[in-house]
Amino acid sequence: MKAFVHEGHKDFEGLSYRSDFPEPNVGAGDVKVAIKSAGLNHRDLFIVQKRHGAEDPALVIGSDGTGVVVETGENVTGTHVGDEVVIIPSLRWEKKSPAPPESFDILGFPDNGTLAEQIVVSEKQIAPKPDYLTWEEAGVLPLSALTGYRALFTRGGLKSGDRVFIPGIGSGVATYMLQMAKAAGATVIVSSRSREKLDKAKALGADILLDNGQDWSKALNGEKVDLVIESVGAATFHRSLELLKAGGTIVSFGASAGDEFPLNIREFFYNQWSLHGSTMGSIEEFHEMLDLFSKSQIHPVIDSTYNLKDAEKALERLKNGSQFGKIAIRIS
Ligand SMILES: NC(=O)c1ccc[n+]([C@@H]2O[C@H](COP(=O)([O-])OP(=O)(O)OC[C@H]3O[C@@H](n4cnc5c(N)ncnc54)[C@H](OP(=O)(O)O)[C@@H]3O)[C@@H](O)[C@H]2O)c1
Repeated sequence: MKAFVHEGHKDFEGLSYRSDFPEPNVGAGDVKVAIKSAGLNHRDLFIVQKRHGAEDPALVIGSDGTGVVVETGENVTGTHVGDEVVIIPSLRWEKKSPAPPESFDILGFPDNGTLAEQIVVSEKQIAPKPDYLTWEEAGVLPLSALTGYRALFTRGGLKSGDRVFIPGIGSGVATYMLQMAKAAGATVIVSSRSREKLDKAKALGADILLDNGQDWSKALNGEKVDLVIESVGAATFHRSLELLKAGGTIVSFGASAGDEFPLNIREFFYNQWSLHGSTMGSIEEFHEMLDLFSKSQIHPVIDSTYNLKDAEKALERLKNGSQFGKIAIRIS
């Protein structure tokens, strides 16, 4: 089958589009899905940059995908050939819990992922594709929308009327969080390095726009927020904390721009802040996220779409950080 694969060398040098990749076999409890459309996440870039090379087995990257069931294994009862499904990339984490079980992994490493014509996953790892979404839209939903859902609601406890700050609005996860937070009745404040991205966020419903070049506290006239969802990391974390009201919560699930920053501990405890880490989400939360999307008719923001054979160009775009929203990969 055709697949976009990383093997043999570190970083982009190890990427190739192959038409001879072995088709996966269906085991008991599994379903085989012919992928129609997939999506990229920052994670795909990290994996390609971190795998070292010669000794690593060939890997199909990708955590996001949607398609049609073409084969079912023994003991599969609730799924049929022809069903239209989205893939749930959260492996072996079924119920909502404070942290995933030790056996938790994310599809796309170390298991083969979605940037291929076919994938085999357990029946638990699929959900019906929402009818109102196009293939392209459904294909970019899974990892980022699930991550944003858990960060906002399960970990952040967002409720109607809250003020939430989401820095780095260009990110795929951030655009989903903006849409979900607005659907939940929150006031949403966003920041970006790019004026163009801020204008796009405004069109998507953002209430207040902060340019990375300005003094954020001043721009908000000192009016603070109930919740910050941080995924940019060191470049913005301390600035985000300045906007958080006493007793507020900050949730962190990413560090695109650096893993470490100095923290004023005294300021932290006097302000009675809560800091929560978050990572992806469970299968239960995936279904809750799909319900929210369907009820609120949220459409993913698609930055651009590439054919599978051009997936390397799509990764380049992600690496350059010029996207607003999700990058889709058309497969069949
Ligand atoms: N823990 C998990 O389960 C999980 C799941 C998904 C994602 N993540 C992490 O969350 C982050 C976002 O993921 P994504 O796929 O949505 O990423 P993405 O689309 O690549 O977006 C990253 C955004 O961060 C901002 N940014 C990057 N470098 C910056 C810098 N030096 N200074 C200021 N802002 C900067 C940019 O926003 P602007 O261009 O608007 O400024 C950029 O659009 C990544 O770190 C990813 O690894 C974690």
